[in-house]
Amino acid sequence: MTRVLLVGGGGREDAICRAMVRSEASVYAVLKNENPSILRLSTDHRIMDETDHEKILKFARESGVELAFIGPDPVLNTPLVDRLWQSGIPVASPSLSAARIETSKEYMRAVLTRHSIEGNIPSRTLTDAAELSSYLRDLGTGFVVKPVGLTGGKGVRVMGDHFRTPAEGLSYANEVLDRDGRVLIEEKIQGEEFSLQAFTDGERVAPMPIAQDYKRAFEGDTGPNTGGMGAITDGDHSLPFLRDDVRDRAVGIMQQIIRAMKEEGNLFRGVMYGQFMQTAKDLRVIEINARFADPEGINVLHILDDDLLDILFSIAEGNLRTYVNFHGKSTVLKYLVPVGYGSNPEPGVLEVGDPGNPDVDIYYAAVSGTLSRVRMSSSRSLAMIATAQSIEEASHAVEESMKCISGRFYHRRDIGSPELMKRKLELAGIRQ
Ligand code: AMP
Ligand code: GLY
Repeated sequence: MTRVLLVGGGGREDAICRAMVRSEASVYAVLKNENPSILRLSTDHRIMDETDHEKILKFARESGVELAFIGPDPVLNTPLVDRLWQSGIPVASPSLSAARIETSKEYMRAVLTRHSIEGNIPSRTLTDAAELSSYLRDLGTGFVVKPVGLTGGKGVRVMGDHFRTPAEGLSYANEVLDRDGRVLIEEKIQGEEFSLQAFTDGERVAPMPIAQDYKRAFEGDTGPNTGGMGAITDGDHSLPFLRDDVRDRAVGIMQQIIRAMKEEGNLFRGVMYGQFMQTAKDLRVIEINARFADPEGINVLHILDDDLLDILFSIAEGNLRTYVNFHGKSTVLKYLVPVGYGSNPEPGVLEVGDPGNPDVDIYYAAVSGTLSRVRMSSSRSLAMIATAQSIEEASHAVEESMKCISGRFYHRRDIGSPELMKRKLELAGIRQ
């Protein structure tokens, strides 16, 4: 059996681990929480700081791993991938320098500008308080304030959503500037957001089904931003409220970014994940990330109809096929989180029963304990996912199976519901 190192212990890594085991890999896991699913599936594991390179390298060497894969973005923001390659272990994740496409929003915008790639958003990075206030005074449009580096999805503030007046935006921008020495201001774009993930060996690109992530904590897309409360995919691998050409155009943008990075001598090998926005007449790039999304990565890995290990080896070796197969079913995933998640979480214990439906499955995230009794942390706990002929049916199936979990938790019932899907179609001006 092929031995593989997997770093990370969330729901996304549980899905990666399961797909690796389906490929008959023997998984050696490094994670900071005692995720009961990863612990059960892996051959060996270490519970530890996921950025302690010396210890990880020692574990990888002693275990004789032949390939490594990194899940979480904070780990990609360290030289672990480079160090694994230096010690002779191939990695199907981007180097520290290539991961800058995610870890520096300034670099990402600059790549789009330098190579005239479609979908850029007017933006500026500022390092001076006086310039910042005069820039915002002259802007005359809605804007978004972003820290330049990683924020775990939580540091971005959008006018109209998180602050109302330019003065409130300026005050937050000054806070970021004081803390980080720089702040990114972007024009505010309106439209329907979606996620496109793709495998790439730095040259060839194999796209995955489009997904949509629900970031806001509460139903009706209200409340604070979170890491993601759930996600949907559709059987045709696009989404009902996206225009016909949108998926191909998003894939095209991603191909251009990957080509541009190669030309600049910054080869990107691994999984790239773009957040895009379909506006009234356009397509815009909100963010580019250097990894599987969480939860969207779980949706797509759940329906992967191909050998993950083969794909990951071909990424590391630079001979990826450009077509990867996925089942043609819709998926809906809903995260179960502690009550108060996003502001003041109250983690407790959950008893996990049988979902009672072969089309429903449960992935384990930031929890410890056993498969049938988990201790929650302040983060996302369990991901319940269903496959069905339609998004609405899959959403219903998840709701039906929620009764197999007992304990205090919260989840968004509206993800994939008929009402929400109908509203999105109306908003996009698409009638069915
Ligand atoms: P990010 O962490 O950059 O993905 O941003 C978090 C969320 O903020 C995104 O998912 C969008 O909903 C929103 N957002 C980010 N940039 C913009 C923008 N330029 N215009 C409108 N909304 C944005
Ligand atoms: N789904 C949001 C993220 O993975 O960043």
